[in-house]
Amino acid sequence: MNIRRIGIAGSGIMGSSMARIFAEHDYDVTLYNHQQPRLDRVKESLGSLAERIVFTTDLAVLADNELILENLPESADIKHGFYADISPLVRDETIVATNTSGMSINMLSETMRLPERFVGYHWVNPPHLMPLVEIIKCKDTRDDVAQTIYDVSLTIGKKPVIVKKDVAGFSMNRIQFAVIREALAQVADGVVSVEDMDNVVKYGIGIRWACQGPIESIDFGGLQTQAKIAEYMMPAICDSHEVPELLKKLAAEGANGIQNGHGFYEYPPEEVPARLAKRNAMLEKVIAAKDV
Ligand SMILES: NC(=O)c1ccc[n+]([C@@H]2O[C@H](COP(=O)([O-])OP(=O)(O)OC[C@H]3O[C@@H](n4cnc5c(N)ncnc54)[C@H](O)[C@@H]3O)[C@@H](O)[C@H]2O)c1
Repeated sequence: MNIRRIGIAGSGIMGSSMARIFAEHDYDVTLYNHQQPRLDRVKESLGSLAERIVFTTDLAVLADNELILENLPESADIKHGFYADISPLVRDETIVATNTSGMSINMLSETMRLPERFVGYHWVNPPHLMPLVEIIKCKDTRDDVAQTIYDVSLTIGKKPVIVKKDVAGFSMNRIQFAVIREALAQVADGVVSVEDMDNVVKYGIGIRWACQGPIESIDFGGLQTQAKIAEYMMPAICDSHEVPELLKKLAAEGANGIQNGHGFYEYPPEEVPARLAKRNAMLEKVIAAKDV
């Protein structure tokens, strides 16, 4: 399918960023929100690019597109309500994709009139910088529907992967939480400090994995050696099914990291903008180095 007309539902962090990216790549973009003031704010922030986007509070205008990207809040009720409203309005060939962070695509597909044209499309924050997008098939998603989203993603410079089964956390978050589980276990066991744990990843495994994936790394390390190491490593690493104690305790105390200044580290409010800018500048350099 050749997609030119894209409708985006929800003009928050993710939806407004997607509108910008697709408009910059010359797609015909319609941005929908149920409240006009929120659309007005996005319009203002986009400058002259806003002239190339249709802003609407009318579901019928949103429905008149070839691809609809749902970016509503992470609530099953809100998303199901939206699918129930939009399903009768869209043409049979329209694809509807959800940017849910982790809800089951099978569960969300239940209110779609044509679940074979429904698919998960998970972006990574910050969306204008991070190349990875996950395309998650529900049990009914047609192969050509997933492939269409894949092809569209390439045209905007993203690195798409197809997640063939609707599993919790899709692919990336499963890896992320497997690492977080082991990282916090090492800190809790007094193996390394919080700072050194972050250094292990930032200056060791993170650099390696930015250049080669974990599986390619096995090939480069040699399968004979890696299989021997796995014999004693697998029984040693954390396999807990609980929320890590350190995370649970800090969260219960109200810590919310950079959002409220308290987390595993402290963030004085006056330093937050500079630290975010530094993080983004580093991301840009790493991504540029990968020539993605
Ligand atoms: N922010 C992230 O880091 C991130 C990353 C990946 C995926 N996601 C997912 O993307 C989706 C959107 O997240 P976000 O961070 O952009 O959220 P957000 O809260 O910034 O934006 C949600 C938008 O939906 C609108 N909205 C609220 N209720 C509505 C309703 N009933 N009908 C229509 N519009 C409504 C809001 O006005 C807002 O513009 C969520 O499913 C989220 O889990 C977020």
